[in-house]
Amino acid sequence: MFKVAILTASDKGFTGQREDISTQVARELAQEAGYEVACCTLLPDERDQLAAEMRRICDGGLADLILTTGGTGFSPRDCMPEATMDVAERIAPGIAEAMRYSSMNITKRAMLSRAVSVIRGSTLIINLPGSPKAVRENLTFILPELRHGLEILTGRAHDCARTEQKEREL
Ligand code: MTE
Repeated sequence: MFKVAILTASDKGFTGQREDISTQVARELAQEAGYEVACCTLLPDERDQLAAEMRRICDGGLADLILTTGGTGFSPRDCMPEATMDVAERIAPGIAEAMRYSSMNITKRAMLSRAVSVIRGSTLIINLPGSPKAVRENLTFILPELRHGLEILTGRAHDCARTEQKEREL
């Protein structure tokens, strides 16, 4: 079972001015998809704090996957993609591209999300936009395909399963 950490950036959520529904939605969808939720963290939109939390989770081996919510837009305080790039060792842009591609069928404002997807060590980090609706729409689209990537990243699989199957048939 893969472990997921959920990291939410919200000044209002952190100070109790807004209920944090996005974390709940991410947690529910991840559990339904068979992930163990290792931790959920709510922080203000502070680049250094967000990056430090991602480093703690990745370098401590606490999760195979970090799903972040919020802070991907154009507001002056939005800094989740920058915090994520601060800790990135390798880029995995296809996931963020796929989210924007699928979301454009729902709202053209999907183009306003600056979300990135990267790898640090053996942990995959994916930014999601902040609204519960956007979290649901994006996770519904990407979660089914992540397992294969995580198997390769964590060394539980060494090649594309379909290729291995084909080789056995030859
Ligand atoms: N993606 C999906 N699937 N659904 C949405 O409702 N909202 C967009 C975009 N991506 C949205 C979406 C909007 S309005 C914004 S401003 C950006 O995500 C950034 O959101 P954030 O600042 O909450 O991270």
